[in-house]
Amino acid sequence: MTVLKSVSTLVVVATLVVSASWSSNDNFKLKDDTPVWEVYEKLGKIKLHAVNPKVAGASAEIGKDIVLKGSSVKRDGKKGKTAKQSKHFECTACHTIEKEFHDLSDLDPNKKLAYAAKNNIPFLQGSSFYGIVNREHFYNDEYQKKYKDVPGIKKSFSDVRAAIQVCAIQCSQGRALEDWEIESVLMYFWTLQLKIGDLNLTDEQKQKIEYALNERQSGARAFHYIRDEFSDVSPAHFAKPMEYRKLSDTELKNKERFQRGKWIYDLGCKHCHGKKRYSFYNLDDNTSTFKHLAKHMERGKHHSIHKISRYGTAPKNFKKAYMPQYTTEKMSDSQLMDLQIYVANMAKGNNLLK
Ligand code: HEC
Ligand code: HEC
Repeated sequence: MTVLKSVSTLVVVATLVVSASWSSNDNFKLKDDTPVWEVYEKLGKIKLHAVNPKVAGASAEIGKDIVLKGSSVKRDGKKGKTAKQSKHFECTACHTIEKEFHDLSDLDPNKKLAYAAKNNIPFLQGSSFYGIVNREHFYNDEYQKKYKDVPGIKKSFSDVRAAIQVCAIQCSQGRALEDWEIESVLMYFWTLQLKIGDLNLTDEQKQKIEYALNERQSGARAFHYIRDEFSDVSPAHFAKPMEYRKLSDTELKNKERFQRGKWIYDLGCKHCHGKKRYSFYNLDDNTSTFKHLAKHMERGKHHSIHKISRYGTAPKNFKKAYMPQYTTEKMSDSQLMDLQIYVANMAKGNNLLK
């Protein structure tokens, strides 16, 4: 990441000198809704993932329908809807469209979970689409290694359109999207781009950024201020499942951990398993459900929460809905332990928060 970042800094510093986008008597004011990309471009950074206006029939509304509902109206005013992208999922089964962190530069899973609980955001295996056009690389780290033979994955490292297509086919187990559909999804992603108000810049930093834009000086410093406020990749690392072990009484009675476990269960597991939304396997708040989870957890086989979270399930031919694995960034080992604490208590009817 550091290497990538320093490369883009060099590009900015180099282009600052020749940037044509600075006009002489600018009096630029940063507002909360100023897009980060607008400032970046003024500082001379070349825009990534730009929409191609030549793709006929594409629109952000169509993209939004594809992402949220799986299909859209047909192109060119033709009657009816397009075929559903996937029989099993919508994109939002695994991705949110919300900002997921108070501080977008600190990807600590516990901070993410607390923010999700506060704002009622699902806690999922995929990265948020919010700010995705502000990211430089996709399927990072171990996704690139483990899935290197999946068609399109290498290309998708730097190509957001390829990343969308790989996920439509592989993650969603659905049909390939057509060019105008991919462009539409990208246009929708642009409506979710980061704004200055999403970053935690101090007033002093904002003034210095405005100074850089208006006086055409210290552009590299201004660029650093912004760049340090968010991560331009979603790091991804897999982990081996923890072995089940019985917890001590002190561990089991930890209310803070119990609360975190409940959040993971409610915002994560139940997002797909609640009322069998995306899975035949139903998860609810009945003691019998927790007893079932606890039994499998103690047995430690594939269906234990520890294993299923780390390995997911494989898509089968006859039934292609599958569960994606959680990377350590999306759920840490410590959070899996929190989930264990929650399940173990609830299986005995101990709701520590009551
Ligand atoms: C069954 C779960 C699932 C579904 C459904 C799904 N995805 Fe994904 N997607 C993932 C996972 C897991 C990743 C890799 C982790 C990540 O997002 O960082 C991913 C990655 C991506 C990425 C790269 C993100 C990044 O920062 O690396 C894009 C773009 C993407 N998906 C788009 C889509 C679109 C568009 C759809 C719907 C057509 C979709 N996905 C449906 C699970 C899913
Ligand atoms: C993105 C959606 C999604 C999320 C989030 C999710 N699962 Fe799943 N899970 C699935 C799908 C799909 C299957 C495949 C089984 C099926 O539908 O028949 C599955 C399978 C399972 C199974 C095996 C069920 C069986 O007997 O076949 C267990 C256990 C399970 N999940 C537990 C969990 C737990 C615990 C969490 C939270 C940490 C969780 N899941 C989060 C989608 C999800």
